[in-house]
Amino acid sequence: MQTLAFSVAVVCLLVGTVSGGQVFNRSCPTNIDVKQYFEVESYLGKWYEMQRYDSVFEENFDCVQVRYTLNEDASVQVSNSAYNLFNGSSINALGRAVLSFPDEEIVQGKLNVSFFGAPNDLSNYWVLDTDYETFAVVWNCQPLGEQQSEESFWVLSRTPTLPADTNVLFRIHYIMRRYIDRSLLRFTSQMDDRCPVF
Ligand SMILES: *[C@@H]1O[C@H](CO)[C@@H](O)[C@H](O)[C@H]1NC(C)=O
Ligand SMILES: *[C@@H]1O[C@H](CO)[C@@H](O)[C@H](O)[C@H]1NC(C)=O
Ligand SMILES: *[C@@H]1O[C@H](CO)[C@@H](O)[C@H](O)[C@H]1NC(C)=O
Repeated sequence: MQTLAFSVAVVCLLVGTVSGGQVFNRSCPTNIDVKQYFEVESYLGKWYEMQRYDSVFEENFDCVQVRYTLNEDASVQVSNSAYNLFNGSSINALGRAVLSFPDEEIVQGKLNVSFFGAPNDLSNYWVLDTDYETFAVVWNCQPLGEQQSEESFWVLSRTPTLPADTNVLFRIHYIMRRYIDRSLLRFTSQMDDRCPVF
């Protein structure tokens, strides 16, 4: 039972990267613009987490990295790693992602991500924008009853610091202005000497 409880907790923590979940007293917003003509293969590889929604669950994890590789069945293997700078504990979690709606005429950046062999039955990882080479902005909202929802948000970068590229920063801030409560964001430490090389 203890193992099961642990797994359930970690699943909650790891949909996108580590957690990045915030509860809002509103239902999930609609009319969210997601990346169109999404290319899974260009999205593969390593990403560093730059920012996420702060969360009671996230437990001070920094140095968060995610790695996406193609499985033989064309699904994506998800490997998340994070390190707790306060007590030195690290987490690694393996998951699997598939495009939520692969048969759409215009493929959108919506994926179903699950961990520890759970079914991929939830569209819970929406890439709102990415240039594949520099940055990605990922969002998710799940209803908690009728009046509440839990939203997650991550800014990912191909490098441990985001390049000071005006166009990239404009695209990230454009999305933040539209969808995100910036007062609730947390910056992920990536430059700390203690960050392990995953
Ligand atoms: C949401 O509502 C609950 C109870 O109605 C309240 O305690 C809480 O502060 C509210 N949260 C926000 C973010 O407004
Ligand atoms: C470190 O802190 C996290 C979060 O508070 C906790 O889950 C974990 O068990 C701790 N690990 C160690 C080795 O103390
Ligand atoms: C992804 O999850 C959604 C439900 O959120 C479901 O409708 C869809 O069929 C799933 N996609 C795949 C490929 O399983």
